[in-house]
Amino acid sequence: MKVTVIGTGYVGLVTGACLAEMGNHVVCLDVDERKIRVLQDGGIPIHEPGLEAIVQRNAAMGRLQFTTDVAQAVAHGTLQFIGVGTPPGEDGSADLQHVLSAARSIGAHMTDYKVIVDKSTVPVGTADRVREAVAQELARRGVDVAYAVVSNPEFLKEGAAVGDFMRPDRIIVGADDERAVLLMRALYASFTRNHERLQLMDVRSAEFTKYAANAMLATRISFMNELALLAEKVGADIDMVRRGIGSDPRIGTHFLYAGAGYGGSCFPKDVKALVRTGQEYGVKLRVLEAVEEANDLQKHVLGRKVVEHFGEDLAGRTFALWGLAFKPDTDDMREAPSLVVVDDLVRRGARVQAYDPVATEQAQVALKGVPGVSFVDSAQAALAGADALVIVTEWREFRSPDFDAMRAALKQPLVIDGRNLFEPALLKAHGLEYVAIGRSQANGARSA
Ligand code: UDX
Repeated sequence: MKVTVIGTGYVGLVTGACLAEMGNHVVCLDVDERKIRVLQDGGIPIHEPGLEAIVQRNAAMGRLQFTTDVAQAVAHGTLQFIGVGTPPGEDGSADLQHVLSAARSIGAHMTDYKVIVDKSTVPVGTADRVREAVAQELARRGVDVAYAVVSNPEFLKEGAAVGDFMRPDRIIVGADDERAVLLMRALYASFTRNHERLQLMDVRSAEFTKYAANAMLATRISFMNELALLAEKVGADIDMVRRGIGSDPRIGTHFLYAGAGYGGSCFPKDVKALVRTGQEYGVKLRVLEAVEEANDLQKHVLGRKVVEHFGEDLAGRTFALWGLAFKPDTDDMREAPSLVVVDDLVRRGARVQAYDPVATEQAQVALKGVPGVSFVDSAQAALAGADALVIVTEWREFRSPDFDAMRAALKQPLVIDGRNLFEPALLKAHGLEYVAIGRSQANGARSA
């Protein structure tokens, strides 16, 4: 099939590359000339495991092209995917200017039937606005061309995006046009050959499903983070509690990890946007408001643990910081908890020696102008002369460190772990003091 994808960020690029991998002919369009140049040269502008190889292979086969030429891109695909960014606006609602401008571009150039597919995360009702934007352009041109607008939200996780797209657990399609449904079914047939995974529904329910999924996952995390605070006080271990409840199939094991707070391009933005939609319609989403508040507080949990140990004044102190990206296997720094941790430390006069396996460049941009932060190129180098180690992101290479070398390098044998990577007893055996999240055993609290 002929497919056009507008936007070459995470969602757009993964969609375009994976659809090409299944034999479709895909043209990816972006207004950012720099990005398109990188892609035309065989590179990718983001860090995403496995993606570069797929891009290169399909570009070489001529199935995947990149362009800034709007007319050419719109002419190409019967299916026009919109995968542009929807950043939060001032009031927390999703900013739709890029989505609507993509819609207008399609309306301005289309000459035959198109299925316009909203893949970006967009609030309920956006498909109607996209339909209107296209209609206005057609009216302006004085032409009458048939088209359908479909909602097909993306559920991929950064760092696992290719696998999530190629082996989806569900494909949500919101559509009310029969021809569009046939085309969407045909496009996704290769991904769902052995098991029917495509769920067809009305457009608004599809749009809502995306927010509901992310809001539910964020809720689980904030819920566990709050329970972790209490676990420390009552002398329980949240990791034991996680296992204990996760084995109940009604609860399930995923997304129950207490930590330093959730970040990224989706959860913070989507929770805010859903709360905002609720306000617009006069429905107060109390649970989600609390989810957001709890997460904002949770991002300070590591800073607070440092202060509990060293006092408010951190002048003259240096902290090793492991992990800057908002989660492992990505270089994405959007809403990363590390930004709050660094601020909590340097604001009190400390210096930070930070190491991240891939996000250093992005972090340098995000932390530009923040005094007292230096970036080193190995986990061990971050430890040299530091008062203590603070772990913010659970990269695999942090999971089995040389504890003896760690103790030797640190001024105080103290590890403050925001991702509960280790068995407290193991660190104790290596002569390290271990402070984790929600683990009284590690944090030394006593049960009553
Ligand atoms: C998320 C959704 O998972 C995905 O379906 C959607 O399409 C986009 O948003 P992503 O933002 O890439 O994906 O990352 P995810 O793996 O979901 O993690 C989000 C944040 O939650 C990270 O900061 C992570 O560290 C945190 N997290 C996750 C926890 O703190 N605890 C957990 O148990 C799981």
